[in-house]
Amino acid sequence: MSDDRSLENAGFIPEVTGDGSATFYSEEFGEHFHCRQGAYTDAQRNYVDAANIPELAQAERLTILDVCYGLGYNTAAALDTIGRVNPDCQVTIRALEINAVVVRDAIANNLIHHWTPATQQILKTLATEHQYKSPTLDMELLIGDARQTLQPLAGNGWQADAILFDPFSPTRCPQLWTVEFFSLTAQCLAKNGILATYSCAAAVRSAMELAGFSIGSFPGVGRTWPCTIATKDQRPLPGLSQQEQEHLQTRAAVPYRDPTLKATAAAIIAQRQQQQQQSTLESTSAWRRRWLTGHGAQR
Ligand SMILES: C[S@@+](CC[C@H](N)C(=O)[O-])C[C@H]1O[C@@H](n2cnc3c(N)ncnc32)[C@H](O)[C@@H]1O
Repeated sequence: MSDDRSLENAGFIPEVTGDGSATFYSEEFGEHFHCRQGAYTDAQRNYVDAANIPELAQAERLTILDVCYGLGYNTAAALDTIGRVNPDCQVTIRALEINAVVVRDAIANNLIHHWTPATQQILKTLATEHQYKSPTLDMELLIGDARQTLQPLAGNGWQADAILFDPFSPTRCPQLWTVEFFSLTAQCLAKNGILATYSCAAAVRSAMELAGFSIGSFPGVGRTWPCTIATKDQRPLPGLSQQEQEHLQTRAAVPYRDPTLKATAAAIIAQRQQQQQQSTLESTSAWRRRWLTGHGAQR
């Protein structure tokens, strides 16, 4: 994929979410960029707070990987939080995003007005120059497929204290939820670092475990289903409920695979479906009957 997105180059249209902040809808992926209950709240609570950034920012240095920068809300919430907690913190951020148009349109539609003026200025500079340097911030926005743009960082031994992991949902964008992409991401997480993501899909969690993460569950704000945090060390994390543990024993937990980090979404989905058909794991519908009668599907 390139960043010349013919479907979406015409421009994104803002839609207001439950907390008054706006998001976009992606025609290409058939999904909104944030949960409809509140885009700013999602960034602050389900990413920045979940990844423990208020505490991490008390250190002298903090390094963050923002996987799927989009409108920049997760980075913006992190910057505002760090500015409040410890303005002297030396911050390094690398953000990955395939579509420069969405970055630009967030600014063009003035969707960033909630953040502090300093953070707004950083986001504006990033949208045009794709980097921002100051005495306390070294930030680069790497435009391209995250499966490729992350490889040089991993190859150079680059390490993040916090990873904000926010692709479109696994059925829409499976290429960023594979065992192989999580393995690449895990290489970039410091030993005592933490990854936060909204998804609790069994395929996602099993891929994370196969990539070497320990996983924990937390109740996302404004989200129907729990979110996931992950580490590479053995520190205790909030445990998975019985329901969540049993979900990992079903065919829903067959992970997405992409050994070359270049496969199309369709190929990744087809390969997983084949694996599921051959699987001896319990059917997910049996698990759903036990736990979810009357509820919706899990992202
Ligand atoms: C759910 S949105 C992210 C929202 C964002 N974190 C924010 O705060 O606005 C997912 C983003 O992933 C981007 N994306 C999709 N496929 C990608 C890929 N292969 N590599 C990098 N970014 C990708 C989309 O363009 C979109 O901006």
